[in-house]
Amino acid sequence: MTDINIDALLSEGRTYPPPPEFAAGANAGPGFYDRDPDEFWTEQGRERVSWFTPFETLREWNPPYAKWYLGGTLNACYNCVDRHVEAGNGDRIAFHWEGEPVGDRRDISYADLQREVVRFASTLKQLGVRKGTAVAIYMGMVPELPVAMLACARLGAPHTVVFGGFSADSLSGRMNDMGCEVLITQDESWRRGRPVPLKQTADQALAAAPGVRSCLVVRRTGGEVSMVDGRDVWYHEASADVPDDPASCPCEVMDAEDLLFLMYTSGTTARPKGIVHTTGGYLVGVSTTHHYIFDIKPDTVYWCAADIGWITGHSYIVYGPLCNGTTSVLYEGTPDFPDRDRWWDIVARYGVTVLYTAPTAIRTHMKWGPEYAQRHDLSSLRLLGSVGEPINPEAWIWYRKYIGGDRTPVVDTWWQTETGMVLISPLPGLTTLKPGSATRPLPGIDAAVLDERGNEVPPGAGGYLVLRTPWPAMLRGIFGDPERYEQTYWSKYPGRYFVGDGARVDEDGDFWLLGRIDDVMNVSGHRISTIEVESALVDHPSVAEAAVCGRSDAQTGQAIVAYVTLKGGEEGSPTRLAELREHVAGKIGKLAMPANIVFTPELPKTRSGKIMRRLLRDVAENRSLGDTTTLADPAVVEEIRSRATAEA
Ligand code: WT7
Repeated sequence: MTDINIDALLSEGRTYPPPPEFAAGANAGPGFYDRDPDEFWTEQGRERVSWFTPFETLREWNPPYAKWYLGGTLNACYNCVDRHVEAGNGDRIAFHWEGEPVGDRRDISYADLQREVVRFASTLKQLGVRKGTAVAIYMGMVPELPVAMLACARLGAPHTVVFGGFSADSLSGRMNDMGCEVLITQDESWRRGRPVPLKQTADQALAAAPGVRSCLVVRRTGGEVSMVDGRDVWYHEASADVPDDPASCPCEVMDAEDLLFLMYTSGTTARPKGIVHTTGGYLVGVSTTHHYIFDIKPDTVYWCAADIGWITGHSYIVYGPLCNGTTSVLYEGTPDFPDRDRWWDIVARYGVTVLYTAPTAIRTHMKWGPEYAQRHDLSSLRLLGSVGEPINPEAWIWYRKYIGGDRTPVVDTWWQTETGMVLISPLPGLTTLKPGSATRPLPGIDAAVLDERGNEVPPGAGGYLVLRTPWPAMLRGIFGDPERYEQTYWSKYPGRYFVGDGARVDEDGDFWLLGRIDDVMNVSGHRISTIEVESALVDHPSVAEAAVCGRSDAQTGQAIVAYVTLKGGEEGSPTRLAELREHVAGKIGKLAMPANIVFTPELPKTRSGKIMRRLLRDVAENRSLGDTTTLADPAVVEEIRSRATAEA
């Protein structure tokens, strides 16, 4: 689908130069791309971040390991919170927090944030959290989530935030892998008017994570939860008598290369990888890109409508914007509660000037129709952003027209959990936009598209995207698994970072991202491994074999299709189907539930026994099948075509 749209677009050639009034005052102006990259990153390192000890060396590159800002010491929490208060900006709003229940809202200034973070950090200290203690966080979008992350950063305790939609197994797996000693969660979170029992799921996870000795519980809904004596502690009780002046809990001095957090993400095996992000380069990278790409000004009201449980939220809700002293919106709930105009009500009420979201969300709003946006005054918006998957030109144009009033630039930002920061993106005051293209790599980012043999492909031809030089927020490894790090990213083209995305570069040098080329699916902007879903399926006692692939879906980008062979010749039934979907939800999380399950007596395999994934994808996509003589059971084709799509 992507290819067809891009071809249509290239021949049609719609382009959008920067609006003159935008270009005149933009943070990234003429000459921005001409700067020497090392000079640029040295300057950003000095000016955008406050160091306890200034760095001595910009970068060290021993492929595949990079270090940035060597010799520098700093604290991420100090940079995101304290220094803004010290500079006299304590009254500035850090977050306009909007709870899901209508009317449940709170404005949090930088001074408020500092008090809350100090109180939270001191409470963690009482629980024995020190520099180096690994902490897991399993929460919804409440103010205490960024507060908890910053409190960890203040103490030098690395965190891993696990998205609230993940299962108990996913949570315990991550906690065990990282060696977490403390878990922070909440009683329940709100989702579409209904409570989600986070503490209950956390309890199941804790039963399988014996290394976690304390669980700190924030009260959100007031719903009933069980508390285990000696392990579980209510935050509001434990923090009641804790001081909140910053001097009572100073920021730890951290090395630029000290671990800030792990973010687990799906790879091509069943086991998620703990992506390592360190402190100095990460903070410089995310704050710099945030400043230039979103053209952040003192009066910007910025809203990244992602969940903090993903890298987007870490880099562009928490660390980047707060480091820049930005005023952001933080929204707890779904776009359709209580009605489908909730986002636009929020934009109008807070006067949001920059909105950053994912193509899947845009397509959902498209499906609902523009009338919901038209109920509200969206004229405050001056810039829109997109992230998470290739954006189809139709969605891009709809976004600009109905949300951006036919006037705002749309920046399509390409990056990954591993890159930590955006690497390919337009700059709104400089770039002539092409719907569907992320346009150009940022200064100092050396991206290229290679063929199988490692040669650069000519303009217009497809190939594998690689990065040839390191960047500040680059992953420093996979936690505890250097071999997998080298194998996954650096073995196909030695010395070059293998992205896992297909891409092409057009005659103007603009990049077009074409989606994953490995066994990773992208469902609603979430990365899910086919193998991970397959292992969840075969974990069910009735399943003999399973093969999983993605098919394109108009709304979610890709949808998950599973082909399942049941044990003992069982034929499969709607009950079995529902049970297997639930089983996957229980093993991984609802986001990994297959949209379709096709029961088949046999899976198509090659003679050497390899599952023919390409064929399965073609079946799932309804494409013509080519040579299917080796397909064991052609009925699979008919079956998937006849089966109604199950509700995801
Ligand atoms: C994968 C990374 C980056 C935060 C959200 C996802 C795809 C991401 C774009 C874009 C085309 C994109 C890629 C990438 N992707 N942004 N603007 N255009 N594709 O982070 O879960 O690490 O997924 O998302 O395939 O490899 P992630």
